[in-house]
Formats: sequence, C-alpha cells, structure tokens
Amino acid sequence: MCGIVGYMGPRAACPILIKGLKRLEYRGYDSVGLALNESIGFHLFKTKGKVADFESKITHTYTTGTGIAHTRWATHGLPNDTNAHPHLSESGELVLIHNGIIENFLSIKSMLLRKGVSFQSETDTEVLINLIEYIKNQDDLSLEEAVRLSLNEVVGAYAIVVMERGRPDKMIAARLGSPLTIGIGDGEFFLASDASPFIEYTKNALYLEDGEMGVIIKGKEVEIRKITNNDRVVPSIQELRMNLEEIEKGGYEHFMLKEIYEQPRSILDTMRGRLLVDESIIWMAGIWDYKERFIKAKRITIVGCGTSWHAALIGEYLLEELAQIPVEVEYSSEFRYRNPIIYKDDIVIAVSQSGETADTLSAVKLAKEKGAFIFGICNVAGSSIARITDAGAYTHAGPEIGVASTKAFTAQVTVLSLIALKIGKHKGVLNVPRYRLLCNMLNLIPDKMKEILEMSQKIELIAREYKEAKNFLYLGRGLNFPVALEGALKLKEISYIHAEGYPAAEMKHGPIALIDENMPVVVIAPKRGYYEKIVSNIQEIKARKARIIAIVNQGDEQVNNLSDHIIEIPDIDEMFTPLIATIPLQLLAYYIAIMRGENVDQPRNLAKSVTVE
Ligand code: M6R
Repeated sequence: MCGIVGYMGPRAACPILIKGLKRLEYRGYDSVGLALNESIGFHLFKTKGKVADFESKITHTYTTGTGIAHTRWATHGLPNDTNAHPHLSESGELVLIHNGIIENFLSIKSMLLRKGVSFQSETDTEVLINLIEYIKNQDDLSLEEAVRLSLNEVVGAYAIVVMERGRPDKMIAARLGSPLTIGIGDGEFFLASDASPFIEYTKNALYLEDGEMGVIIKGKEVEIRKITNNDRVVPSIQELRMNLEEIEKGGYEHFMLKEIYEQPRSILDTMRGRLLVDESIIWMAGIWDYKERFIKAKRITIVGCGTSWHAALIGEYLLEELAQIPVEVEYSSEFRYRNPIIYKDDIVIAVSQSGETADTLSAVKLAKEKGAFIFGICNVAGSSIARITDAGAYTHAGPEIGVASTKAFTAQVTVLSLIALKIGKHKGVLNVPRYRLLCNMLNLIPDKMKEILEMSQKIELIAREYKEAKNFLYLGRGLNFPVALEGALKLKEISYIHAEGYPAAEMKHGPIALIDENMPVVVIAPKRGYYEKIVSNIQEIKARKARIIAIVNQGDEQVNNLSDHIIEIPDIDEMFTPLIATIPLQLLAYYIAIMRGENVDQPRNLAKSVTVE
C-alpha cells in the first residue's frame, strides 16, 4: 500500500503535501515524491527513502497552490528514485500518483511499446499514465474522459490522482479497491488516502466509492462520476470525527509506545455507550438489529489477517464458550481462494483495523456473493470493509499509526467479548449471574491494564537481557494460544528476531527439538485455565535448560520457582486474560526492538495495511 496526498487551493501546496506525507508514511516508506503544478509546468521531486530525508532536498520555497505527493511501499520494481512516484507520461504533459496494482500492466505496456512509447521505470503506474496520455491524444479528449476510458481498460486496484501540465486549476481522482478521500475546505480541496493530512483544515470529507472518479476544478464543486458509464453521482459529504491530537505522538518517543499506553483509554472508548455495567446491559445496535440471525446462527466464520486474525481466534473461543455458536476462523487470503462452502444463514465476521486489507475485503465480497450475512469489526470509520458489510461494530480505538498493531487488537478482542456476552445472554446459554459477573469484569479491564503499564520498567530490564536472542518461542493454551501468536508476531515484525507462537501442549510434537539454553521461551501461565497443564509444560522446558519468561498472576509461587523471570498480571476471569496478558508482550517486543536500534513505527518491508494481494 502507499499513501497519496493532493492539494489545490490558495495556500502553498508544498508544505501541506510534506506534512500530509508524514501522516501517511505509515502506509509505506521506501520512497517518496511530489509534483507541483504551475502554469509554466511541473516541478517534480522524488527519491528513495523517507519523507524526512526528502524534505531536506527541497530547498526552494514554492508558493504554487496545486500539487500531489506520494509515499511508496514497493510492489512493481525496486524502491529507487526512478520507480518512486509521481510518474510523468512520456511527453511530460501528464503526471500521476497511484496506490494499488494494475494487474494487466504487462499487456498494456506491450501495446504501448508497439506504438513507440518508451518507459523509464519498472512500475505499473508509469504504464497507466502513458495509457491515459495515449488515449487522450488519440481522440483529443479532455483529461477526465481520457482517465475514465483508460480506467475501463485496467484490471486491478487503484486510487489515483492525475494532473495536466500548466493546468493548476484541475485534478482528476479515481478509486477502485484502494481508499481515497476528498477534503472540501473553503475554496480549497485536499485529496488523501485517509483524512489525516487535512484534519486541521477541514472537517468535510467526501469518500470516493469504488468505481467513482472526482473531477476537481478550482472555483467549482467536485463532480463525482461513475468510471464505467460517466453517470453523475450525488456527492455525500461527511463530517470527520478525528482530531489532531489523536494522530500526533503526544510526547511519546514512538507511536507504538503511545498506542500501547493508550489502551486503558481506548478500551473505555470501545465499551462506551455499549457496556452499561450498572444495569448489566450490553447495547450494540449492529447485533440487536439482527439478533434473530445471531441467535439462530448455526455457524459463524471469522476472517482476518495478521493481528486481526489473532483477535478472531480469541473470538472463536469467546463465541463458542459464551454464546455456544460453532465458529471457524480463516485467514482471509485462504478463504477467498478456496471456494468455501457458505450457507444462506451463515454469518461471516470480518475483522480489520484499517478496513482496507485487500484479502479481507475480497473475502467479504465472496461471502456476500454466496449470500452470507456479513458483520464487520473495523477501526477506521468509513473504510471499505465497514461500508460493504451488512452490519458491524466499530472498535473506536482511535487512529493507530504504528505499523505494529497494539490498541486495535485489544479493542477488537473487546468488541468480540461484548458480542459473545450479548448473544450468549439473549440465546439463554449464558446464565444471568455469570453474565453479570463477566460484564463487571470487562468493565475493570482498563484499570487492570493500567497496573501492567506501571510495570514497564521491569519489562524493560527483562528486554535488556534478551535483546541479542536469535529466536524466541511463545507458548499459551486455550484463549492464550492466540496471545502467544500475537506476542511472537509483535516481536518478529519490529525486532526482526525469529519468533514462533505455539499451543503449549503442541510443543512436544516438534518445537521441543529447538529448545536449549539459547532459546528464550515466553509462557503465558495465568492461574485460571489449564494452569496445572501449563506448569507441566514449563517443567518440560526447564528440563531442556531454556530461559523462561512467564506471564503469571500476582503471587504465583509455583511458576516463579521454575522461571528465570516472571511478569505478574492481575487476576481476571479466564475469558478476559488475553486483554491483560497481551500488554506485557507488546512492551517486551517494543523494548527489545528499541534496544536493537530498530524503527518500531516503520519496520522494514511492512506497511500499515496491505491493500494489495
Ligand atoms: O488492517 P488489518 O487489521 O486488516 O490488517 C491486518 C494485518 O495486516 C495487520 O494486523 C498486520 O499483521 C500488523 N502488522 C500486525 O501488527
């Protein structure tokens, strides 16, 4: 995925674009570029590297009020200066930024090569801008018509913005499968992959829908048209709820640390207005409106990727235990390609922080085609998945900027807990005293999280001992098996240490062969839930001389005696231990990565959401 940003208005575009790129850098950070459009022509700058390095290369103060910019996560071609966006057409008359993949770019490129067009880069994007130019010149078309006709030739996903040399009063934007938002200010327009680049300038946003293009002309209203047939669409302008503080570091060294520390507050936001603890009521309109469906559901399938898939695995335990509904959890990427059997009364829950993950979006579309009822659990309001689902519940974790997901994960688990409790109660499979007890306990989670965050110094000391490790094993049972997976994912994605998560009992079927004094093993061993079994697993590890870091309940003597380090977490019902046990694992990964000198907010090769296959 990449970040795209554009501006047209009375202010100087360059600083707005650079600031916008910084906010979108979480979407990709291997190369960066911008094009300013003046009546005399384009000023084009692009380079491999990050926005901060790029910024220092623009030494002149440009006052022009029209420009586009891009921060890239490479798909086609290496991250280098030539492949960086924006891309000019061969004649230099048109310029384009693009987020997505043009799947049939090779056949289009061959056609254009036969017509004598030459290319500088290896990108699909340069092919697209040359296709637009070729079609435009063939019939002397307007830019918008040439863009529209070209996009009808294209297979793939895109969010694009195009400009024409010497026309600073005009921009064409279009989307299919990749997000694009138009911010509408007083006499000015902003374009961006999400609303963060323009939040301080305007609260009015227009989210382009798939298959729509926007014709943006200075002094006029944005004109929205269907790419297929050029039909006019009435624009729907929405008011943004995001605020500036939410997307800034607020005194923390990294977004990831800020987001870890935000969890007591973000979980409160997730539960706000939903968990009415005094009355023991869980209010969720998305479930209530379809309660019969949920109560009668014979099966729920949950799809997601990465961390969201881990949250889905916890959801499986919660829904089966509390609501007695059989649940299957699938990687979105596997689900979408294996012709899954879906019955009309099936429910498919899609879990996605960004709401833009290509595989999850495609899985949802497939399930929808097959007639399933789709429920979305997304963090980003107005995102593609949130809009395509039949019903849903936002996680309300606030913007998550660090590439490693932290607060979004615990918010997803909280939403799944609320859903499981609500359905279990209405279905009559969860007895009232237990339901009440669990509501009360869920309400205590933010305070319990605070207790763990206060122990961060101890976790930092543990991290210091293990920062040179080459491998890590994470073990947990039951609901804490997905927590082990998530702990391992956090460590590997930001510290680049190889880490595996395993169900603790499964260890003896293979991974035990890896265990020796050089293998640190993190074991999640709370009192509630398979405690004696996990103590046996710890003994097996100890016998092989591995160093053990155990996550235990306060006052646990038994595991303490067997472990090299313990991190104590407050006691809570087994159903909610994942919400608590995850926090020390996030901190451990964070500190280890920092001590190794890694960029935790922008780990190598990753992007915040993967909007390509
Ligand atoms: O936006 P999504 O929740 O759909 O993203 C899914 C994964 O790409 C994401 O969770 C990824 O695994 C993160 N880097 C995890 O920290």
